[in-house]
Amino acid sequence: MEKTIIVTGGAGFIGSNFVYYMLDKYPDYKIICVDCLTYAGNLSTLKEALKNPNFRFEKLNICDHDGIKTLFEETRPDIVINFAAESHVDRSIEGPEIFVDTNIKGTQTLMEVCRELNVPRYHQVSTDEVYGDLPLDRPDLFFTETTPIHASSPYSASKASADLLVLAYCRTYKFPATISRCSNNYGPFHFPEKLIPLMIINALADKPLPVYGDGLNVRDWLYVEDHCKAIDLIIHNGKIGEVYNVGGHNEMANIDIVKLILKKLDKPESLITFVEDRKGHDRRYAIDPTKIHEELGWLPDTKFADGIEKTIDWYLSHKEWWQEIISGEYQNYYAKMYGGK
Ligand code: NAD
Ligand code: TYD
Repeated sequence: MEKTIIVTGGAGFIGSNFVYYMLDKYPDYKIICVDCLTYAGNLSTLKEALKNPNFRFEKLNICDHDGIKTLFEETRPDIVINFAAESHVDRSIEGPEIFVDTNIKGTQTLMEVCRELNVPRYHQVSTDEVYGDLPLDRPDLFFTETTPIHASSPYSASKASADLLVLAYCRTYKFPATISRCSNNYGPFHFPEKLIPLMIINALADKPLPVYGDGLNVRDWLYVEDHCKAIDLIIHNGKIGEVYNVGGHNEMANIDIVKLILKKLDKPESLITFVEDRKGHDRRYAIDPTKIHEELGWLPDTKFADGIEKTIDWYLSHKEWWQEIISGEYQNYYAKMYGGK
């Protein structure tokens, strides 16, 4: 059956992968991307989607109530999926205000418009970072959907605040929403400020690879397409008012990822440089995905060994995509964040 889906933040990493996944899987659906194109949004990422008659792009800020309402009135979406966010922890430490504006106020604005127009379904793309972190010496512990919210950074606190608002809207207004909390994603179109693409790109240029602290912090990596599949299942079969954790039991220490990338690129480990630790650096994230597996049948398809290979190959064959990004404003960011370290 034909549906119209609004994807906010669709010019970013996960949102764009989701746009391509949905256009491919549902040839009857109309996909409308709403994105204000911050430093992290890139229209060239959507170049192929823009050729598809079922896809439309609208340059709009999710905090712009009137602009969003006009678009929703015109297009009457069946589902709104909110990927739009300020997403980088280090930037949230340098300047938290925009995180409050976009991640909290933007979410609330979208939900208000949905309520005003009776949009039948809303999905909030959240993160495992809302649960805070786990100790390294308790590998038996995992985040479940009932783990208390305990955010550490301005980024995760803003995402946690948005989640609380979504759940409050569900209870107070019977707002038809679901939430997914996913672990760290990797794959094509990942912005080069994040660990995996940054290390690939620096290694290719024989530049130092800046590892924070002791490099033993653990993240639970999931190939981005598996996240897209999870969201697809939730928006079609998930229960309103529910939270679903998404993760593939793939915990890895940062230093091991960095060494693996160097090995795959045939570069020396002498490029590794330990730098000052991130403030408030979360030690370990680890998701228990039992609920989404048992209720919706979700399981990840891509093993890390294959996913990292595909990702490295993608960065090697799409140099023009990331070279354009790192030649601009990103240079100033890099100098500011890593210059003194
Ligand atoms: P990203 O930074 O790559 O992309 C964010 C996109 O949102 C960009 O295209 C940007 O232009 C757009 N945007 C930002 N502010 C906006 C605004 N006010 N109005 C409209 N558009 C705006 O982020 P990502 O890594 O793709 O993450 C997408 C979502 O998934 C975020 O909500 C993030 O919290 C969540 N998430 C990310 C990960 C991860 O590993 N990257 C893991 C779990 C959850
Ligand atoms: P990141 O990709 O920023 O994701 P998140 O902080 O949301 O998990 O970082 C992943 C891990 O890599 C995190 O423990 C911080 C670490 N890291 C580095 O060691 N060096 C870097 O230059 C970056 C960007 C991250």
